[in-house]
Formats: sequence, structure tokens, C-alpha cells
Amino acid sequence: MSPAMLAMTDGEANDVLHDNDDNDESLYQKGVRHLCEKPISKVPGKYILPIEERPLPAKPNSGRAPLISLPVVDFSELMSPSGRPAALVSLAKACENYGFFQLVNHGIPSGVIAGMIDGSTRFFEQPYEERAKYMSSDMTSPVRCGTSFNQSKDRVFCWRDFLKLTCRPMAQVLPHWPHSPVDFREVASTYAQETNSLFLELMEAVLQSLGLKPRPLEGEGGSIMKQFEEGSQLMVVNCYPPCPEPDLTLGMPPHSDYGFLTLLLQDQVQGLQIQHREDWVTVEPIHGSFIVNVGDHLEIFSNGRYKSVLHRVLVNATRSRMSVATLHSLPYSCTIRPPPELVDEANPRRYMDTDFASFLKYISSCEPKKKNFLESRKLAT
Ligand code: OGA
Ligand code: NI
Repeated sequence: MSPAMLAMTDGEANDVLHDNDDNDESLYQKGVRHLCEKPISKVPGKYILPIEERPLPAKPNSGRAPLISLPVVDFSELMSPSGRPAALVSLAKACENYGFFQLVNHGIPSGVIAGMIDGSTRFFEQPYEERAKYMSSDMTSPVRCGTSFNQSKDRVFCWRDFLKLTCRPMAQVLPHWPHSPVDFREVASTYAQETNSLFLELMEAVLQSLGLKPRPLEGEGGSIMKQFEEGSQLMVVNCYPPCPEPDLTLGMPPHSDYGFLTLLLQDQVQGLQIQHREDWVTVEPIHGSFIVNVGDHLEIFSNGRYKSVLHRVLVNATRSRMSVATLHSLPYSCTIRPPPELVDEANPRRYMDTDFASFLKYISSCEPKKKNFLESRKLAT
């Protein structure tokens, strides 16, 4: 596959913009931001989910979902020789039991983070025509704007617009990134590089927490960390405008992420929910920290030990919400399979070999629902 990688994630397929005779339909294809330029007091039918898929149970007095305090991993402890063993244990437990953790003291300067949120906010505040330049059905485009989740397949649309940027190799993709606002490329590329370095440190810790040797001794052959250093990175900037009837729709439907780890930056507005012990629980944003979650590739690589957990996004009536997810994995050409150390008689292989091409084929062949891709790679045990 070409290195100018596919600016897509989760449940996407082509045909982003197909002209439709139905005027409303072509309006919805232009995104939620554009729809909301004229004040609206009701959610159009296109965004209304069937009752059983709505964020609140239909029962009266059932209340909002509870808040969850995610396990915390302190990155500075992970980086200190004395703190590392205990931090590795916290990391392993979080990946096994929650599939999610909050990463604090990560060392990325607060200016870089604030710059990314601010630059993204200004990107979406621009007139529709600026975003329209990047709306394309070309899946190999290193930059794509769109709306909903799987725009060409979703019968009901999600209340979300996005900008997806392929981040590597940076020198090759950067000239394609939006040049308006004028500082966008600079803030977004700095953010992409900082999150990639953070991912590499975290991945080394994840490998160690699985009992693997991330780097070979002097003179030994290649290492898995070398492959991650050449890996893929996709940045997804999500914009969730205020919604007049937030209980009827979702910003993102239940899904899992495809890569090894996702680093999620959210502004101060609640919205992310994760599935925990069969319930939906709301994640409280902690200022300046990242939410990190295990993706499908890490679940497959760890032979099921670390969990890729379903999550979804609620919208709200009063505030616009922004988030930036960076999805990291091995190079798109790599096959994902567990290393021999993680497979034995007591732990037989749980998933088929997986590569990016099989993921693409899967999502373009069916309506993506929940974590079907991972399910589709399961071996009978
Ligand atoms: C994603 C995602 C959550 C959020 O981009 O894959 O799950 O809070 N985002 O926007
Ligand atoms: Ni996600």
C-alpha cells in the first residue's frame, strides 16, 4: 500500500460526497457545522437514532450514566527507574480491566496542546467552503474532511464533523494539509510529532508490561520498536456542535479503534463514554491529560490480554466540543499477530493474522457495527 496513507479509521468507506436529488440529503452531507449555521431547534430525522440505540435508556427516572474515574498512569513514574516497575503494573492492569487509562505528567508542553485545540477550533469555525476543499472520496488522500461516522453507509447520521490527517511520513504528507488557518500546519504537525514520541515511549512500556523485550541487545537483529518507529499515525480532529435534542442522537456510535493505542485529547466538555462491565459510563475530562485506549491491533497482538473496548460520544445542548484522537499502529504493510512468547498451550491463538488491507476490505464490504472487525478475526478456541 502506498505510504501516502489512507486518511480513514474505524468504519469508513468511500463516496463521501454523492450528489443527491434530495436537497436535505445533500445538506446533511455537508456536515453538522454547516447545518447549524442557521439556528435549528429540532434535530432533523436523519440524525434520530432508533430508541434502543439512543444514549439514554427510555425508562423514566433512570438518570444519566455514572461518571467513571479511569485508572491513572503517571508517565513521569514510568520514565523513572525507581518508579517504572509499579507504573508498569498499573499500565498492565488498566489495559486488562478497562482498555482505557488517563495519562498524567506526559511531558508534552501545555502550549502545544492548547495550540492544537485552538487551531482545530479555528479550522472548524471557517466557512464551509474551506472544509469543502478537503471533502473527497479518495481514500488515499492524506487529508479528508467529512461528517458522521461512515458517511456513505450510515442510514442515521452522527452529530459530528471530522478532519483526518495522515501524519507519516511527515515530509511527504504535510504539503497536503490545510493551510488555513495560516498556523494550522505548524501547530498540528508539532502536535503530531509530540504525540508520536509519546506513543513510542508508551508502546515500549506496553511491550515490557507484556513480558516482551522491546529492544534487542547490541548485535541482535531488528526489534519490534524499530517497526513502531516506522509505523503509521492518523490524526482525527472531531468537532461536535451543540445539539438541540442531544438525547436523540450520538456524536459517535459505539466503536473500537483499529490501531495499537489511541491518544485522545478532549477539551473541557464531557462526552466520551466507555463500556465498562456492560454499562456505559462517562469519562470525566482531566485538564491537560490524555485518555489512552487499547485498539484492536493491540488486543490481537497481546492475544486477547489487553482489551479494545467499545466507546461512544454523547453530544450536549449548550456547548460545542472538540477532541483530537491520534491512532498509532505498525506500518500499514505489516501483519499483526501475537509474538511466540504470548502463545502457548494454555493460551492458544485467539485471532487470525490481520493486516490493514483485510481491515479495509472488511469495512468496505459491510455496514460497520460495534466491534465487528475484531469479532471477524476471532478464531474458534
Ligand atoms: C475517536 C473517538 C472520542 C471523542 O475519534 O475514535 O473515539 O471523545 N473519539 O471524541
Ligand atoms: Ni474511538
